[in-house]
Amino acid sequence: MIEKALLLVGSPKVEQSTSASLGNYLISKLEESGTTSEKLFIHRVVNREEKVKNLLNEIEAMDLMILTFPLYVDSLPAPVIKAMELIKDNKTFLNSKKPQNFIAISNNGFPEASQNDTALKICRIFSKECGFIWKGGIAVGGGGAINGVPLLEKPGMFRNFIRGLDLVAQALKDDKEIPQEAHDFMSKKLIPDSLYRFVGNYSWKSQAKRYGVKQKIKQKLY
Ligand SMILES: Cc1cc2nc3c(=O)[nH]c(=O)nc-3n(C[C@H](O)[C@H](O)[C@H](O)COP(=O)(O)O)c2cc1C
Repeated sequence: MIEKALLLVGSPKVEQSTSASLGNYLISKLEESGTTSEKLFIHRVVNREEKVKNLLNEIEAMDLMILTFPLYVDSLPAPVIKAMELIKDNKTFLNSKKPQNFIAISNNGFPEASQNDTALKICRIFSKECGFIWKGGIAVGGGGAINGVPLLEKPGMFRNFIRGLDLVAQALKDDKEIPQEAHDFMSKKLIPDSLYRFVGNYSWKSQAKRYGVKQKIKQKLY
């Protein structure tokens, strides 16, 4: 039984992020079995001393940590990396006696979930370095299609994520690793790649128009 879960959300979009949508649903499933939880937004924590202290206290108290974040340049957002470094550097001073489990959920903008592979390997190494029990990394592609909407608001559209996270919650409750079936559901595409790209391109162009930079959209930095 997982008594205390800590949800770390690594998106600067905080509650309006795909990271939060996925993490919130998973936590709600664990809470159905009596788990209590704490949620922290990493961007609001890492640069404030008293909040870092609170983060370390929460880590000492948890028996499951869920890190959910967006993929940035095939890696993790800088504040998330900073949080990992803080946790690693302080882990030896934390004296939790109980087994501490860790899972990571990485979501990305391109349609393929496999884009998250490198970031999830980084998370696995972090877990090992800190002495956590690695229960697995979940890859979600085409995160823009969720875009911060709570999964239960569109249960039909998000059914594969819901089924996948239900299996993840069950595995965690049974003290098992995330099963392959859950990975398969989580990496299923919501819409065909061609449609996703079409909507993505349309959205970039209309945003450029809104901000008066439509003619500059192909400019490069150097
Ligand atoms: C600075 C930055 C870098 C990004 N790098 C990648 C990337 O390398 N590959 C990718 O597929 N998506 C990339 N994305 C897209 C995000 O991963 C995607 O929009 C994600 O769904 C955002 O999740 P969130 O709502 O939890 O923040 C990047 C986005 C930003 C802002």
